[in-house]
Amino acid sequence: MFAVATAVWVIVLIALAWSTRRSRARQNPLIEPFGNPGMQRWVVIGTIATVVILTVFLVSDIATGHSLGSLPRKNAIRIEVKGHQWWWEVNYIDPTPGRMVTTANEIHIPVGVPVQIVGSSPDVIHSFWIPNLHGKKDLIPGHTTSTWFRADSAGVYRGNCAEFCGVQHAKMIALVIAEPRAKFEAWYNAQLDSAKAPSDSVTTRGQQVFLKNACSVCHTISGTRAGGRIGPVLSHIGSRMTLASGWLPNTRGNLGGWIVDPQGIKPGTKMPPNNIDPADLQALITYLESLK
Ligand code: CUA
Repeated sequence: MFAVATAVWVIVLIALAWSTRRSRARQNPLIEPFGNPGMQRWVVIGTIATVVILTVFLVSDIATGHSLGSLPRKNAIRIEVKGHQWWWEVNYIDPTPGRMVTTANEIHIPVGVPVQIVGSSPDVIHSFWIPNLHGKKDLIPGHTTSTWFRADSAGVYRGNCAEFCGVQHAKMIALVIAEPRAKFEAWYNAQLDSAKAPSDSVTTRGQQVFLKNACSVCHTISGTRAGGRIGPVLSHIGSRMTLASGWLPNTRGNLGGWIVDPQGIKPGTKMPPNNIDPADLQALITYLESLK
């Protein structure tokens, strides 16, 4: 379109310059173009050319839309994305129930494989948008929407909720991590495993702190009795790059800060402040970090 439009623009300018000079040289050639056989011919040529160009654009536009719509989705990975205030629940759908993976905020995908996103929301309207991969898709309560994309090169693609959904809308970040098939499979298989059991006295204490405090009411850690579904699943929290839906790098300090004072970091989040004894907090952080 750019090339054709540029060519048309140049031709029109040349014709304009030519006709300006010509009108000085001859008398009244433009006053009655339709009475002038030479001018009439150019008007007909111009009209035909316009119709042909627009028809070609129309046909190629429909063809492009059609081929985009029919790109191979047969072997697509299906991922259910639920927008929550203010984080993303991510469920990998597999025909075998034992091969379903649930995670949050970070979506790993293999490079070059189509990914179908099935979106929904349990609270308000959110919009899932990874600008370098696909267009916006609203996640609407009581309704499922669908979009799909394919990452042709490996990398971390950052996106943000694109529909105002409350005070922490801006801190609702999603990361898509596209990686080679083998690396993706390794990640997926690790996610399928139950959470790592405590291996020493510190992580054992950390797990006890987790289970005896309010944490387990809202969060799930597979293989333990913590089965809350209000907040993100934490079975493999140590393998994630970020905390608080992409807002903080997943470091020891940030994890401690988030546990103690989530309302200071993300006011309005459902996570309450936790007044935990410092030694218990350190053990809890070590335990969560061990959940790779
Ligand atoms: Cu979710 Cu904006």
